[in-house]
Amino acid sequence: MTYYKNVVVMLILFAGMAGALVARTEVAERSGGKLPDGRAVAIYTLKSDKMEVEVMNYGGDVLSIKVPDKNGKMADVVLGFDDPSGYYEANHAKGNPYFGALIGRYGNRIAHARFSLDGKEYALAKNNGENTLHGGPNGFHSQLWTGEIIPDGVQLKYLSKDGEEGYPGNLTVTVKYTVKGNELKIDYVATTDKDTVLNLTNHSYFNLSGQGNGTILGDELKLNASRFTPVDAGLIPTGQLKPVAGTPFDFTKAHTVGERIQADDEQLKLGHGYDHNFVLDGKGMREAAEVYDPASGRVLTVTTDQPGVQFYTSNFLDGSLSGKGGVAYPRNAALCLETQYFPDSPNHPEFPTTELKPGEKFHSTTIFRFSTR
Ligand code: BGC
Repeated sequence: MTYYKNVVVMLILFAGMAGALVARTEVAERSGGKLPDGRAVAIYTLKSDKMEVEVMNYGGDVLSIKVPDKNGKMADVVLGFDDPSGYYEANHAKGNPYFGALIGRYGNRIAHARFSLDGKEYALAKNNGENTLHGGPNGFHSQLWTGEIIPDGVQLKYLSKDGEEGYPGNLTVTVKYTVKGNELKIDYVATTDKDTVLNLTNHSYFNLSGQGNGTILGDELKLNASRFTPVDAGLIPTGQLKPVAGTPFDFTKAHTVGERIQADDEQLKLGHGYDHNFVLDGKGMREAAEVYDPASGRVLTVTTDQPGVQFYTSNFLDGSLSGKGGVAYPRNAALCLETQYFPDSPNHPEFPTTELKPGEKFHSTTIFRFSTR
């Protein structure tokens, strides 16, 4: 009798293990064609039982994220282009939106495209008036990364050479995109052979109603941030950490994105909407943001170990770019939640440091979780 019981228990265990195996994320690679210089592009599909994500080794771009709404209907919730050539062309045109891109070496702006480190001044490539934005014109978003399939995802690797876009040190960067169930996780690791600075992020544009479906002004947003970094007219932080309390920047309780975006507020005018770094409360892996789209019921929860998040309401989209399926993306067609160190930190010693030294290992994690309500 005990023998049969044991056999039954083993069969149940085996079925359970098989179930766990079935729920594994399937990862496939296909060709994304060629860059104009002939280099081959690869596209990786990461498919779990709950979601499907496509990633490209050119720019490390997240091409699509397909998740269900409250009725189980799948939609792609990130803006982008139909074809890898769309990303290439945007990277070489004015007003690049950086759809889905891996951003480095330095996310957001560095004032006057210069900073000092160990008493030496470094001049960076300018691509935003006097400033440098998102690593410069040939930042990580426009580089071809080496891709390798790993369990549940893909690992992208890139060596940014000493002096690239003006930054010191050979910087080896490894980014892992993995999908498990309803979560997309991004792990960033970097090492250098000279003192340097870095700020890595991902620039996905989310529209939880499905990309190309109106604006995100009706989305309800919560940000775990009681302070933000106000900016000047060039969108460079003034250095102040300003309490959000009593301002349109208070998302500590949920507000729709559109509720106060037109308010008579100097910071909203300077940003043409929200385009600000929020100082996340707490330390270590913690919830940074939650977005709820009442129309579809989709919820995005962002968890990170980073000190800040750039909340950007795609203020510079103006309908002139056609994205997936030829749809024109209007202003506020999406929102970005770029987990990061603060903009211009190399020129603000009072901000958390973005310096990396030889022998140290930079490691950071952000998780995008999709659910419904
Ligand atoms: C910046 C914006 C910029 C956008 C696209 C965001 O991270 O904060 O000012 O326009 O990226 O480049």
